Amino acid sequence: MTVLSPRPDLWTLDPDVLHLNHGSYGAVPRRTQDVMAALRAETEANPMLWFRSVAARLTTSRLALASYLRTDPSGFALVPNASAGVTVALATLPIPAGSRIVLTNHAYGAVRYAAERFARANQAEVAVVDVPLEADDETVASLIEPTLDGAAVLIVDQISSATAMVFPIGALVSLCAEYGVPIVVDGAHAPGLIDAPAADGADFWTGNFHKWPASPRATAGLVVAEKWRTATLPLIVSWSENDERLPERFDVQGTYDYVPWIAALESLRVLDELEWPVRRSQLSDLVDEGARVVAKALGTGIAEVVRPAATMRLVELPSSVDLTDAEGLKMRVSRELKAEITLTGFDGRGFIRLSAHAYNSLPDYEELSERLPRVLA
Ligand SMILES: Cc1ncc(COP(=O)(O)O)c(C=O)c1O
Repeated sequence: MTVLSPRPDLWTLDPDVLHLNHGSYGAVPRRTQDVMAALRAETEANPMLWFRSVAARLTTSRLALASYLRTDPSGFALVPNASAGVTVALATLPIPAGSRIVLTNHAYGAVRYAAERFARANQAEVAVVDVPLEADDETVASLIEPTLDGAAVLIVDQISSATAMVFPIGALVSLCAEYGVPIVVDGAHAPGLIDAPAADGADFWTGNFHKWPASPRATAGLVVAEKWRTATLPLIVSWSENDERLPERFDVQGTYDYVPWIAALESLRVLDELEWPVRRSQLSDLVDEGARVVAKALGTGIAEVVRPAATMRLVELPSSVDLTDAEGLKMRVSRELKAEITLTGFDGRGFIRLSAHAYNSLPDYEELSERLPRVLA
């Protein structure tokens, strides 16, 4: 078992807190914070000069982010977050009255709200496919297939949030093509965890750079299949409205804070120096071991997810734990135990979703397992 060392030289995280939830908002390395601070200082030294320089800097950053995802740069646009990416996709796709928007019971809550809003606006409906936590790839595809005939769109997670499960995107893209149904892939967690996450040929794919690639928040990407590129418009109407090129159309979002998009590359460099693919597989072993330690302390087990996300695991909560007030419970863990974790509920079961990133090591999980019974017993 590799015990990784926390790197205070690389991160500014409070050392008195156990940081075990990278999956929600990430954590920005010190070096990227310095780059952002320098860019902000430059802005304030001469705002006019700064805004004149933004287009060229954005182009450099956008091309590098597309290359990181190994995707065609002419179909890659910057968006503030995965929620925006999904919203853009739903605003672009035709949703005929009487059709249905299909998603699964693993879908992120805000994405489900987006589906509901667009269904309402188009006199369509939302169909939710129940996929068990333990489903393998074939089961996932066979449960979704019966809902595709007559569907306007399938929205599916690449890695789900509440259940940290990897979905078989390649198989679902093929299935949707058979039925002539567009597919929107919610890859919020995919950058950094899945190599070439947008390579399967979905109609739309969106993903966050602020999570696993540790980029500044509000940095996300949208990959659009060629057939939709002309029709796809940014949520904010601005000066690039009539630009025929998709990425450039999304670059101009009015007077906006473009610093995160420009500074994002520094985080990619940090990950590169950490030899990320090797590190990621070490983190996978680490979170496996960490989850076992925590589950043992709680007298429970680890969820039997067939393909768990590389760096996240679900530890079952004792049945005595009531998740009605999950936020309150998380606040108690934060305040009383000085630990940051997230709690998720799925199909009537409650879990701690544990993350591992390059600043975590086994003692973090051991420490958590000692502290947790005080609040969760
Ligand atoms: C699967 C999934 N989809 C969408 C989102 C929304 O991401 P954002 O809040 O960055 O828009 C998240 C956020 O964690 C997520 O996990």
